[in-house]
Amino acid sequence: MLLAAPLVAVGDPGSGTSIFRPASSNALAVHRYSLFVLGITGAIFAVVFTMLVVALVRFRRRPGDDAAEPPQVYGSEQVEVAWTVIPVLIVIVLALTTARTVFEVQDRAKPAGALEITAVGRQWWWEFRYPQLGIVTANELHIPVSDAAHPAPTFLKLQSADVAHSFWVPRLAGKTDLIPNRVNETWVDPHEPGLYVGQCAEYCGTQHAKMLLRVYVHTRVDFDRWVEDQRASSAAGEAVAAGRRVFETTACLNCHTVRGTVGNGLYGPDLTHLMSRETIAAGSVPNTPDQLRAWVRDPNRLKPGALMPAMQLDDHKLDALVSYLLALR
Ligand code: CUA
Repeated sequence: MLLAAPLVAVGDPGSGTSIFRPASSNALAVHRYSLFVLGITGAIFAVVFTMLVVALVRFRRRPGDDAAEPPQVYGSEQVEVAWTVIPVLIVIVLALTTARTVFEVQDRAKPAGALEITAVGRQWWWEFRYPQLGIVTANELHIPVSDAAHPAPTFLKLQSADVAHSFWVPRLAGKTDLIPNRVNETWVDPHEPGLYVGQCAEYCGTQHAKMLLRVYVHTRVDFDRWVEDQRASSAAGEAVAAGRRVFETTACLNCHTVRGTVGNGLYGPDLTHLMSRETIAAGSVPNTPDQLRAWVRDPNRLKPGALMPAMQLDDHKLDALVSYLLALR
């Protein structure tokens, strides 16, 4: 276990969820701090382990040693002062560094015009609301890149609709919990466009493991285009009217919103632009027609414990409904 510990700590540096590849100032502060702590604790480990090995090897009992106890030494002011003062100094340094990092992360000023997003943790998916832009989406968070020339940090208000969850995208920021009846905040300012993945990091029930997070970081132009697409109402036309009727006459509409229809439920993900998402089921299943059909037929097959019930639709209605969903671009 001791030998494996450093490997576990470093993690796979090529992995998309390694804290050792920070891509945002917030994560960078955490990264610097963890290296510092790892350095100090690593040095302590090396010193203690070396002394232990030396003691074991040099002073082990050898054939011919007489059985009498070696001379015992009681009390040494020097040694006692040393093992009290050095740890106290180490603890003070660690405490001050921790405080500085906490302030660095939490005291980030919110510039005028910063993008604000409300993230709501739910069993077992994420709702993302963009109050300034009138956008609601799920599981896949889209934000602009924030480079040195054009800083554009994103501030997240974190809330929970049910139990405690935790927002963790290791390359972008440290964990922040989402706690019922409380608003927590965090921010990210990714320096490079790309996809950053994460995971709910607080056990929240059966499907905690499949409460994944995907953060798409776009250039400003691409982000503006995404915003424009999301704000438009979806273009599902007459060809899928039969499917829309299924949607509007089953219990779907109690939980899901599709803007422009009578469906305005808030319990499940907003489906207005369902097909703009690459995944369904909180990032655990690719959003392909086959998987979408399998999901609607019986969500519990893909994600046992999922709170969406199977609607017991016959094949004809299921096909119509899926065609309708596929048109929600
Ligand atoms: Cu949500 Cu774990």
